[in-house]
Amino acid sequence: MDWSCAALLAQHAASAPGAAAVEQELTAVTRLAINLSYLLSAALFIFGLKMLAHPRTARIGNRLSAFGMLIAIVVTLGDRHIVSYWTIIAGIIAGGTIGAILAVRVKMTGMPQMVGLLNGFGGLASAVVAFGEFLWSAADPSKTPRIDTLVSIGLSVLIGTVTFTGSLTAFAKLEGLKFRGIVLSNPFVFPFQHWLNVGLLLLTVLMITFVTRNYEHALWAVILLYLIAAALGVLVVMPIGGADMPVVISLLNSYSGLAAMTTGFALDNYCLIITGSLVGASGIILTKIMCDAMNRSLLNVVAGGFGQEASGPGSTQAATGLTVRKMDAEEAAMVLEAAQSVVIVPGYGMAVAQAQHSVAEMAALLEKKGVNVRYGIHPVAGRMPGHMNVLLAEANVPYEQLYDLSINDEMPQIDVAIVIGANDVVNPAARDEPGNPIYGMPIFEVDKCKTVMVSKRSLNPGFAGIENPLFYKENTVMLFGDAKKMVTEISQQLKGH
Ligand code: TAP
Repeated sequence: MDWSCAALLAQHAASAPGAAAVEQELTAVTRLAINLSYLLSAALFIFGLKMLAHPRTARIGNRLSAFGMLIAIVVTLGDRHIVSYWTIIAGIIAGGTIGAILAVRVKMTGMPQMVGLLNGFGGLASAVVAFGEFLWSAADPSKTPRIDTLVSIGLSVLIGTVTFTGSLTAFAKLEGLKFRGIVLSNPFVFPFQHWLNVGLLLLTVLMITFVTRNYEHALWAVILLYLIAAALGVLVVMPIGGADMPVVISLLNSYSGLAAMTTGFALDNYCLIITGSLVGASGIILTKIMCDAMNRSLLNVVAGGFGQEASGPGSTQAATGLTVRKMDAEEAAMVLEAAQSVVIVPGYGMAVAQAQHSVAEMAALLEKKGVNVRYGIHPVAGRMPGHMNVLLAEANVPYEQLYDLSINDEMPQIDVAIVIGANDVVNPAARDEPGNPIYGMPIFEVDKCKTVMVSKRSLNPGFAGIENPLFYKENTVMLFGDAKKMVTEISQQLKGH
């Protein structure tokens, strides 16, 4: 609730009792209506989030949350004392146009970068709004801002700016951008880096403390806070390798929520506090799920360096003289239709090839021939949480056919595992080679199936940059080529038989 506004009105009411009392009552009613609407929005967000947890209810959950946001926006726009409508319309047109162009042009494989950018701008928005609140408070000599408001402004500037520059750095890493010949996706470390970060963080605490004590003369401190936070965002993300960027983006998503929450405290806006807390908490939970799925701690991710010592493609083959067995689409179709049970394990390559519809068609053809077809969905397959679920839902694959890692118990009884553009999530080195960078990460143990088919274009390693011994196993055959082309050819063969 806007207590400062209420206090001003109370003052006014004291000097002109009749009209002001009515106005105050009206304002109190309006405030109550606004806060009840915010409460309704918050309830819709929470129910929406809950429904997002299950693929069956996810769509309706998304709409419910979007409707909650619509209510929050309309109510906030109706709260006239915030800003002029022309400024808002100009902002909507500018931001909406840029957002629409980006959303239409982004490829499915570029979604993590896009999400990273959106988090960053969310953080920047919070930091800028908090700065506006600071200027407004400092410029009005009749008002003494509360200490918690000033702390919230300081935290919002700090967390929002760290989120912004951290997200831009993560974007540059995921895009594989170069700066003066340096590939930014590589971890960038230098001596005493962590101490420098700790020093800068302590400096931000000093700045925030100064702002709370001398807010009338603290403009320089707020500007310095911006600069230190901007440097911190870059410094904290630079040492982390490109392979860990999806986790970092999830963490930054959580930070953008925290920045919005602190801005909510600075503005006394309940809706912003609740929405920010929900984003902050769900971002942290998602980050934890991703770390668990890779059997790594968050500290291990943030300390950086994962995947930087990539073994060259096919280096196992070169070092040991091992060879792989190849198969073409016709032979693959014959093996598949002779099977009783098949498990399909999709990965990032299926997203790159946009092979989800072809995969669903092949599965349907096999089912018609009496084969029991199921899908193994790894929590970190692809490059985003739920990446494979989204693609398979788009191809109308029934949810009942999707299995998590618990299907590993049945692997020895399954006739054929067909791996479509997955690599790290089926790498037996994670189970068999202590000391391997991905050792301990849960995998689909497809090597235990009677036959394993791997559809990919080459022997190149996956995202973690680790050689995959699966390709050289006796029961493995490689289906070299683009996944969509290969699977379509297999389907054509199945139709012909
Ligand atoms: P990856 O290990 O990255 O392997 C994908 C494979 O797809 C590549 O080896 C590539 O081999 C193949 N490929 C690319 N384009 C293809 C095409 N057009 N047709 C056929 N194959 C193609 O993928 P994964 O198994 O899904 O594992 C995901 C990785 O991302 C894990 O390391 C995971 O830890 C990491 N990660 C994911 C997340 C989330 S939330 N999903 C978060 C953090 C980290 P070729 O080049 O030989 O074709």
